[in-house]
Formats: sequence, structure tokens, C-alpha cells
Amino acid sequence: AAGARQRRGAFIVFEGLDRSGKSTQVARLVQQLNERGVKAVAARFPDRTLTTGKMIDSYLSQKADLDDRAIHLLFSANRWERANQILEDLNRGTTVVCDRYAFSGIAFSAIKGLSWSWCRAPDIGLPAPDLVLFLRISPSAAQSRGGFGDERYEKTEVQQRVKGAFKRLGESVEEGKWVELEADRGVDEVGQEVLRRVEEVLQGAGMDKEVGKLWT
Ligand code: TYD
Ligand code: MG
Repeated sequence: AAGARQRRGAFIVFEGLDRSGKSTQVARLVQQLNERGVKAVAARFPDRTLTTGKMIDSYLSQKADLDDRAIHLLFSANRWERANQILEDLNRGTTVVCDRYAFSGIAFSAIKGLSWSWCRAPDIGLPAPDLVLFLRISPSAAQSRGGFGDERYEKTEVQQRVKGAFKRLGESVEEGKWVELEADRGVDEVGQEVLRRVEEVLQGAGMDKEVGKLWT
């Protein structure tokens, strides 16, 4: 009908430990949605191409050291640098599929001893995901997928603690918006479940509503 609001795109976030298969599933989902005539684009955090991304990259590759709070705020600023673009895409009807988001931000900083509420604060008000797909994998299964690189956090002990932080985060997310998928399976098997979950969101009433604001 005239004046009816065009349905917006869905904001889908993948979270999980390193080598849980996030990047593979993001690429696969974007391709499958496009093949089905659904406009979709990929995003990722950290986005190392942005201004803040350069500093984050030096920190992760251990070329630079930064105070725990400074790097936390940079990761958050990195998301804010992209936030308007994500919002515009969603409002134009494009689905955004994102590799990591503010949940990684909290998980990786909280394990250093920074308080939960302090870690959450700078991300308050970012575009809120319609669905978080958490790819669940044991640190040992992840390890068997190939050796760690030289980046900061690529250590089994860190991953183990991050896993605990993610568990707590999942429990704090609105009912139904955090879905854990068993990731220790074949790419296609995981991908089929991903597509089914995302199609549910795309067909749901949420796409007639405005994009939410994280933690408000
Ligand atoms: P990662 O997704 O592993 O990037 P790449 O695929 O390029 O290796 O992210 C790099 C690391 O950054 C990862 O160990 C998680 C960490 N991280 C944070 O500490 N805070 C954040 O806010 C985000 C998004 C990631
Ligand atoms: Mg990595």
C-alpha cells in the first residue's frame, strides 16, 4: 500500500572462538542470500581498513602494546566508524552479515579483568543485531583445525577463558536472539542450519520495525 515502509534488511552477527568457521559461514551466507535474490553484504570487526583498524592491527600483530582500556575503546570506535554505513545498508533493504561484533569486544576485554559494565558502555547504542549466531566449538577441536598464528590471543588458554565469557554473554541477550550452533560439523551442515535461522528472521515481523540500539 502507498506509504508502507519497505522491509529493511536483517543484521546478522556471527560470534565464536578463532577457527570456529565464522569467516567461511559469513561468505557462504552472503552468497546464498544473493543467489536467492536477497541483497546481502559482509562486514567484519575488527575492520583493519579503517583509521582505528590500523592501530588495532599493530596491537594484534604485537607490533604495538596498548593499555587494556585504550585497545578496548579502539575496538569499539572501530565499530562506530562503520555503524552509520551498516544502518544505511539495513534501511535500504540490504542484509548485513557480520563477522564478530561487540560480544567479542566484551569477551576479550573482560577476561583481562576489566569490569563487565565498563566494557559494555562504549558499545551502547550501536545497531543491534537481529540475530547472533554463536558457532560453538571446543578449543581443542578448534586447535585441530590448524595451528595458531602469531597474533595476540591465539593461545588455547586465552580461547578457553573467552569461551566462558561468551557463555555468560549469551545468557544476557534477549530471548531467541542468541542462537548457538554446533560448529564441529561439515561446512554445509552448519550452513544449512544458518540459512534456515536467517530465513526465519527475514520473514519475521522484525523487518517491519526499526533497527534496534544495542543494550538500550
Ligand atoms: P579475528 O576475527 O580473528 O580477525 P582475523 O580473521 O583477521 O584473524 O579478530 C582478531 C582478534 O581480535 C580476535 O582474536 C578477537 C579480537 N577482538 C577483540 O579483542 N575485541 C573486539 O572487539 C573484536 C571485534 C575482536
Ligand atoms: Mg583470527
